[in-house]
Amino acid sequence: MKLLVTGGAGFIGSNFVHYALKEHPDWEITNLDKLTYAGNLENLKDIQDQPGYHFVKGDIADRKFVDKLLGQGFDVIVNFAAESHVDRSILDASPFIETNIKGTQILLEGARQYKLGRFIQVSTDEVYGSIDSGRFTEESTLSPNSPYSASKTAADLLCRAYFKTHRLPAIITRCTNNLGPYQFPEKLIPLVITNALEDKPVPVYGDGLNIRDWIFVVDHCRALDVVIQKGQPGEIYNIGGDNEKTNLELIRKLLELLDKPQGLIQFVTDRPAHDRRYALDCAKIATELGWKPAFSFEKALSATVDWYLKNESWWRSIKSGEYSKYYKKMYLER
Ligand code: NAD
Ligand code: DAU
Repeated sequence: MKLLVTGGAGFIGSNFVHYALKEHPDWEITNLDKLTYAGNLENLKDIQDQPGYHFVKGDIADRKFVDKLLGQGFDVIVNFAAESHVDRSILDASPFIETNIKGTQILLEGARQYKLGRFIQVSTDEVYGSIDSGRFTEESTLSPNSPYSASKTAADLLCRAYFKTHRLPAIITRCTNNLGPYQFPEKLIPLVITNALEDKPVPVYGDGLNIRDWIFVVDHCRALDVVIQKGQPGEIYNIGGDNEKTNLELIRKLLELLDKPQGLIQFVTDRPAHDRRYALDCAKIATELGWKPAFSFEKALSATVDWYLKNESWWRSIKSGEYSKYYKKMYLER
């Protein structure tokens, strides 16, 4: 099977490439990535020369480029490529519209023209908005609250429309918050770990009682594998870890694991329109495709902490580069 993976140099995409090459040595994977600030070829260094793996630098929103690439013939597209950080979408939504909406439409159009067998849109639980009690099902109303989640919702609706209008075999997955190796240190867990290791304050938005459901990135990759092989065109699958935690609970646990003082916690101004709670009902993927998470939260958290402890040069080179300007603007000047 020939797969085009987009955004494979980012957090989840690079974990997926590692996972897929190990689990399916017969798959041929082309990784198309623009290498934005979040894309990092270091994430793929160990497999860069592996047979069956190819890297192409390019933009999913560049129609000519995508048309030419798809002409090489693929069976499946797995679309991870996106601007993925909510806070950045609040500072400037434009790249989110360009990549998450226009880029997805260009990929869908290419998949239609070249009659690809399957299009997997890697979406998010954030499209449903916030829920105080209960859980969102795949039928729940879409109610995004940030420019990031609005752009992901638009992409989901385009996938739906291409399935309805052109019978394009698109499948949407909506996953909760991932944790694991190679996550860019602007996101909560790697930010807390790396700040704590540097004895820097750990910023907590608002009262810290917002709830996220955490899933180990490898479990997300396992779910995508099942969807690629057994998912039904036109369907949506929720993917969750069944590990709801308040941000404060999570941060306190991380500081404990790192043997760092709780006094590093610093409450800062809340994120505008900060979703209070995400929670998914994942019965559909469990009953129809037989997937459930394999890793406990404790195991996932300690594996993640260990990875950042062992890969200090990876995160230090990010934190000392271009990212330091964003960090200054986000946390030190507000
Ligand atoms: P990330 O920001 O770590 O990686 C995104 C990757 O996409 C980077 O390698 C970047 O260079 C690439 N990219 C960006 N714009 C591109 C473009 N125009 N053309 C080609 N490549 C481009 O993101 P992530 O956290 O790995 O998320 C991957 C996907 O999973 C996203 O679609 C995101 O919405 C979704 N998702 C993420 C989570 C999570 O917890 N991180 C949860 C659910 C869904
Ligand atoms: O739910 C899936 C989504 O999870 C994905 O679609 C997004 O791509 C991904 O970035 C993530 O979004 P969140 O906004 O939930 O993740 P983030 O790591 O930015 O924040 C997690 C929680 O922690 C959120 O409630 C905001 C809070 N937070 C975050 C940061 C960066 C803090 O309190 N302090 C911080 O410094």
